[in-house]
Amino acid sequence: MNVTNLKKEFPVFDKHPNLCYLDSAASSLKPRCVIEMMDYYYNNLACNVHRGVYELSYEATDLYENARHKIAKFINSKFEEVVFTRGTSAALNLVAQSYGMDNLEEGDEVITSELEHHSSHMPWFNVCKRKKAILKYIPLTKEGRITIENFKKVLTAKTKIVALTYVSNVMGYITPIKEIIELCHRQGAIVIVDAAQAIPHMKVDVKDLDCDFLAFSGHKMCGPTGIGVLYGKSKLLNQMEPIDFGGDMADVVTLDSQTYKDAPYKFETGTPPIAEAIGLGRACDFLDSIGLEEIKAYEKMLAHKAIELLSQIPDVEIYNKTTDTGVIAFNINGVHPHDAASIYDKNGVCIRAGHHCAQLITNFLGQISTTRASFYFYNTMDDVKRLVDSVREAREFFKAF
Ligand code: ALA
Repeated sequence: MNVTNLKKEFPVFDKHPNLCYLDSAASSLKPRCVIEMMDYYYNNLACNVHRGVYELSYEATDLYENARHKIAKFINSKFEEVVFTRGTSAALNLVAQSYGMDNLEEGDEVITSELEHHSSHMPWFNVCKRKKAILKYIPLTKEGRITIENFKKVLTAKTKIVALTYVSNVMGYITPIKEIIELCHRQGAIVIVDAAQAIPHMKVDVKDLDCDFLAFSGHKMCGPTGIGVLYGKSKLLNQMEPIDFGGDMADVVTLDSQTYKDAPYKFETGTPPIAEAIGLGRACDFLDSIGLEEIKAYEKMLAHKAIELLSQIPDVEIYNKTTDTGVIAFNINGVHPHDAASIYDKNGVCIRAGHHCAQLITNFLGQISTTRASFYFYNTMDDVKRLVDSVREAREFFKAF
């Protein structure tokens, strides 16, 4: 991987040559090829898809559906198993509101974990409450990991649904999801995977995992905001009811009946995010051209270098020293992360501070807030050094009071 050349693909570095961007878990930077693809649509077509009986609309429809093909190829699914959504949250809520509401009964069990982002946990908390189902949490290990051994402690014959993150957005741990899926299927339970933090950083193959549903967002994987994907096995998508009704998803509508198009279209109501879908398709090509396995190894190497250097600074507490990815969570003892962030910001170091929409794991760590640095393939050793220097400076500044 030639990081110097890759950085040139991101116009934001032209405007901010000294940018030290360590917040890719919140949103990745966007490469020129994705922006140009979206510009092409707006400059040359700019019309709706699926509806127009004219050349421009046919081309827009082709580009839009071709993006679905690219995404299907990227995750190794069938074309009709890719549902466009607004993002991971919308995708996970769709499964909960449709599959969850129609398939859960009183006393059924749903398993999730304290490592979840709110978007993976809250929809199930809500549905379980309404359906009188029981929400269970996998006991985490001392370092905050999900293990097969602990998963087996909560899996029972009553388990119907398991909703888990593939990569934690705070701890950067990879869940042993393939083994969990195998265990669940033996019990007749289905598994929903939140892959928002996995898809941008490692090869994800839905057929190999055999997951039932999997969700991710475009904007964390070099694609646009406002677009995400729900992958679902055809068999499950076909039996699910839509939760949004209106334009484009209808088949036949009369005064006393309504039918819908087949999946994925029955879940895509109204004018879709056309430019965003096309941009996301381009982002898949871009990531493939770099190589997902190379990306995974590189960002993990950067994170572990940062951990090694941060560990040498007194008062710095790192919560995930064994991170499997490019995400590290830490604090300077006695210094609020938002105070420290003012020093990082002054130095052009962009990180996230707070609970990261994952209050359960923040509570598990006994904190109200943590600092998170997240690396991607456009980061360098110089970024690691700038982070470490800024943490040292923040400690010296705030500890002086
Ligand atoms: N889910 C995103 C994050 O972890 C926004 O920061």
